[in-house]
Amino acid sequence: MKAILIGFMGSGKTTIGKLLAHQLALPHIDLDDQIIAAAGCPITNIFEQHGEDYFRQLEHQLLLETLTRDGVLSTGGGTPAQATNLQVLQETATPVILLEAAADTILERVHNNHDRPLVNSLTKTDLVSLKDARRSQYHTCADLIIQTDGLSPQTIVKRILSFLK
Ligand code: S3P
Repeated sequence: MKAILIGFMGSGKTTIGKLLAHQLALPHIDLDDQIIAAAGCPITNIFEQHGEDYFRQLEHQLLLETLTRDGVLSTGGGTPAQATNLQVLQETATPVILLEAAADTILERVHNNHDRPLVNSLTKTDLVSLKDARRSQYHTCADLIIQTDGLSPQTIVKRILSFLK
């Protein structure tokens, strides 16, 4: 893997991951999409039918699998929040890039999203608390931290590319 993007829901991991992969002429791998494909149903259904623990097991297994592939990986917002994943992300030789965004930006972006079960089950206040609670885990494994507020996707990708050089 050439780069791993981490960050809270709505921080732009998928958008930036796709652009970055395109610039690097590498495949873009979205961990959530891998989980959906493995389970054969949307994330909301996985949470409802099998529970979050089952989702986290799949997430861990697929993180390990995808890290052996070439490309740019966009993780899920909760990926680094699992101790086993955090250790993997700390130990990997692949650069881990944290995208940060203000709570208001995040809330606006995740609003009306139908396949984010945590957005449906948590209040806005609880989502912001979860974001704060995960901050140290994100920072523990990040090699590059980008405050994305006010930056265009192109600028963010340029910063990542110059870091990767
Ligand atoms: C989650 C984030 C989601 C997805 C799942 C759980 C989380 O990914 O993995 O709904 O725990 O923050 P995105 O960050 O891509 O929305």
